[in-house]
Amino acid sequence: MSGSREPTVVEVSLAGAAYPVVVGRGWLEALAEHVVLPASARRALLVTQGPVVDAGHVTPVDAALRDAGLEVVWSVVPDGEAAKDLEVLAHLWQAAAEVPLSRGDLVVAVGGGVVGDLAGFAAATYNRGVAVLQVPTTLLGQVDAAIGGKTGINLPQGKNLVGAFHQPVAVACDVDVLASLPDRLLTEGLGEVVKYGLIADPALLERLESAAGGGGRLSPEALEEIVRRSAAVKAAVVAADEREGGVRAHLNLGHTYGHVVEALTGYTEVLHGEAVAIGTVVALRLGRRLGRTPAGVAERGERLLAQLGLPVRGPALDREQVWEVMTRDKKVADGRVRFVVLDDLAAPVVVSPERGQVDAVLDELDGLGGLDGLGGLGGLGGG
Ligand SMILES: NC(=O)c1ccc[n+]([C@@H]2O[C@H](COP(=O)([O-])OP(=O)(O)OC[C@H]3O[C@@H](n4cnc5c(N)ncnc54)[C@H](O)[C@@H]3O)[C@@H](O)[C@H]2O)c1
Ligand SMILES: [Zn+2]
Repeated sequence: MSGSREPTVVEVSLAGAAYPVVVGRGWLEALAEHVVLPASARRALLVTQGPVVDAGHVTPVDAALRDAGLEVVWSVVPDGEAAKDLEVLAHLWQAAAEVPLSRGDLVVAVGGGVVGDLAGFAAATYNRGVAVLQVPTTLLGQVDAAIGGKTGINLPQGKNLVGAFHQPVAVACDVDVLASLPDRLLTEGLGEVVKYGLIADPALLERLESAAGGGGRLSPEALEEIVRRSAAVKAAVVAADEREGGVRAHLNLGHTYGHVVEALTGYTEVLHGEAVAIGTVVALRLGRRLGRTPAGVAERGERLLAQLGLPVRGPALDREQVWEVMTRDKKVADGRVRFVVLDDLAAPVVVSPERGQVDAVLDELDGLGGLDGLGGLGGLGGG
């Protein structure tokens, strides 16, 4: 293992209970030295997916839990988003009952956001709630999905329609596990990281800019700092607004139009972080048009996304369908579509623009050529 240095802790301070996001490299075997497991826990249901097992990331977690005196039972759920499903959830409930997991025991999620959401929801509901330890193994999981306590599954009618807030006892991020992620999945996660830099952390943007300038894949050192800084932004926002009534909305930068891209391309063609990148460009340009975002800020954000290999133009979409999706989004409260735009770096604000202003931005981007017309997007359509 490469990480002999101690992992560092980002605290998520919530009224009910604070928990640590522990970030380091090569430290999962020493998990129990850095994460306080519930004293009542005797057994653990470890939930994961095949590729995470194959990449060798589950064995060290399993060994660490056993060393800590826990009996560990694995449940390897089907791979992909399809696992966030009622049948798979029911299977997990039954697996928990068969262990048997009791109230003081532990669910351990080792995987990407899918495993985190599914196992987190199983933990929130089984026995009226058992503790969950999140061990995210994708960049998106480490910087976003595993922090904040949102858990849930999908319905045929829509994504994340059933769920609960269930904060983990800890989030254990080992940046070394990201080495086995396909390039496209690593790059995708950077879409959310750029978002954090724009809404809250200019130093993170600078870190990304210097890393992107180096070309190729980000070094483990750069990734570690990126994960830590991103986790700190998410932790601060969640602590300020645990149940998404206020500032947590700022995390939706890039997501208004991003969700449209995902919905109209069937959730498979464009990955979430890629859609967020496309939506961030729309939000940056919208902010300029509204006279809020300084030109330098908008251009810098767009340039960085492109440098990192993220798409900055969406596919050409039917405008009426765009508005249909945008106005049926659950975040539309009073018929007004909301966008997060920037008054400056680290100064996000929620606005409800007129349709004409949004359309003008989309026209401008259409004029620059859609996704299909652009070169340099080899990542899309790839593995
Ligand atoms: N709860 C939240 O706040 C929140 C926030 C953002 C996203 N999400 C959810 O997260 C999900 C997306 O998560 P994701 O992007 O991590 O995708 P994912 O969980 O589907 O993982 C992507 C793929 O990578 C594999 N994988 C995971 N870790 C690996 C590793 N280290 N090496 C090799 N392969 C690995 C997985 O098995 C899977 O095939 C969505 O369902 C989304 O709704 C939740
Ligand atoms: Zn997102």
